[in-house]
Amino acid sequence: METKKEFQQKISLDVNHLMSDMVGHQYGVSPAQIDFCKDAALEAQAAIEKNRGTGWLGWTELPYNQDDIASDIERTATLVRQQFETFVVLGIGGSALGPVAVQQALNHLHYNELPNDKRNGPKFYVEDNVDPERMAALLDVIDISKTCFNIVTKSGATAETMSQYLIIADALKKAVGDNWSRHIIATTDREKGNLIRLAKDNNFKLFFIPSSVGGRFSVLSPVGLLPAAVCGIDIRQLLEGAKAMDKRTQSSDIWKNPALLEAVIQYILIQDVGINIHVMMPYADSLKYMADWFSQLWAESLGKSVTRKGMAVNVGQTPVKALGVTDQHSQLQLYTEGPYDKVITFLHVGEFGSTMPIPSGCEEYPNVSFLGGKTLNQLIDAEYSGTQYALLRAGRMSQTIHLPFVNAYTVGQLIWLLEMVTAYMGELLDIDAFNQPGVEESKIASYTVLGNVDDKYRRKQEEMAAAPKSKAAYIL
Ligand code: PA5
Repeated sequence: METKKEFQQKISLDVNHLMSDMVGHQYGVSPAQIDFCKDAALEAQAAIEKNRGTGWLGWTELPYNQDDIASDIERTATLVRQQFETFVVLGIGGSALGPVAVQQALNHLHYNELPNDKRNGPKFYVEDNVDPERMAALLDVIDISKTCFNIVTKSGATAETMSQYLIIADALKKAVGDNWSRHIIATTDREKGNLIRLAKDNNFKLFFIPSSVGGRFSVLSPVGLLPAAVCGIDIRQLLEGAKAMDKRTQSSDIWKNPALLEAVIQYILIQDVGINIHVMMPYADSLKYMADWFSQLWAESLGKSVTRKGMAVNVGQTPVKALGVTDQHSQLQLYTEGPYDKVITFLHVGEFGSTMPIPSGCEEYPNVSFLGGKTLNQLIDAEYSGTQYALLRAGRMSQTIHLPFVNAYTVGQLIWLLEMVTAYMGELLDIDAFNQPGVEESKIASYTVLGNVDDKYRRKQEEMAAAPKSKAAYIL
């Protein structure tokens, strides 16, 4: 039974604009095609339900098993807010994209520029690269003696994050002396990796990423929850939203479980229609980085060379991030007239947090004056409808995830929906959606270049030495 809140704040998936009776039979998906996948869908849903909480499915329990952890996070967040003026996350990939997406979605769009009394917490930065200029720039703008650093690495071994740690630990020791470790909170695996050992040796405040939760599925663990709570976001509502969507994914009926319907459609698009590009286009700046977070989730989970039984497949759909309306003036030409190889997912918001009226004026210019008396809210909505129509008219498929408004509860639902779709896709495609051998390969290769002396890197050094050498003739 649906509660009033579940009903009023429910996000929805609208697939009208990719159905064959709307978009035209050549590229659309028919109800018959969807129904044909019924058994496979049933199996996929049952497999995820049966294996909840086990293997790499630890994330499926996060909305339910974190009461104490959420309390600890809230207490810690209160202390951070009292003691520090800046909070910096050092992490990469799944250890950074979630915190960025949640912060952008749920806080003021110019959060750091707000005066202290109007901001919901300390200034907030996520440093997810090792560009030397970026680290130097960060150190230029923060007062390190008033900054708390959250070092986030599941493996506790990622060179990018650990090099940032070395730089920051050194700078902190110079700036605040013996108190330096009070400025660090570590979020990592309970047992594995270097960060846990460093944390214990130096007495850092610690949060754990359960070993059964992979990086890109960790946003609802302390990885995403601590930074969110520090910035004043209601983490209980994020988890409540996830639970509400989880309830909807209990159904094995494709037409009742939005994650299952979406997975089946994307499966058909990949296997039968040859749609290899998935554009996520939020029509709201607040959701801009949700598209970044989704891109990693989709690309790393589904881009795989072999099935679970080791058969070559080289499957996956390339995620592309776009922003409505900005990218109407940049990408849309390609989407409407280029190759028939894309599906567009719009994120659409019913009610924005602000209303911005457009004043009347320029009466002598009818093409401008017609805007007067309307609102930017109406304009962005009209642009979304216009884009949706232009794509449909060109026979291009799109779909919409509609959020009645952007709050912690609806964002929790959105995160859960997309995570579940990804998990079902892994089942339908019969691939391991939870490993990332391609990422590991690049990690090992770069650490080898840097001269890590560990055994596995020595072997990689020999292998890399035998790789084809660049030819001068190809460099102009
Ligand atoms: O999804 C993943 O597993 C990866 O993208 C990782 O999040 C990323 O490589 C960072 O790893 P770690 O958290 O171990 O530093």
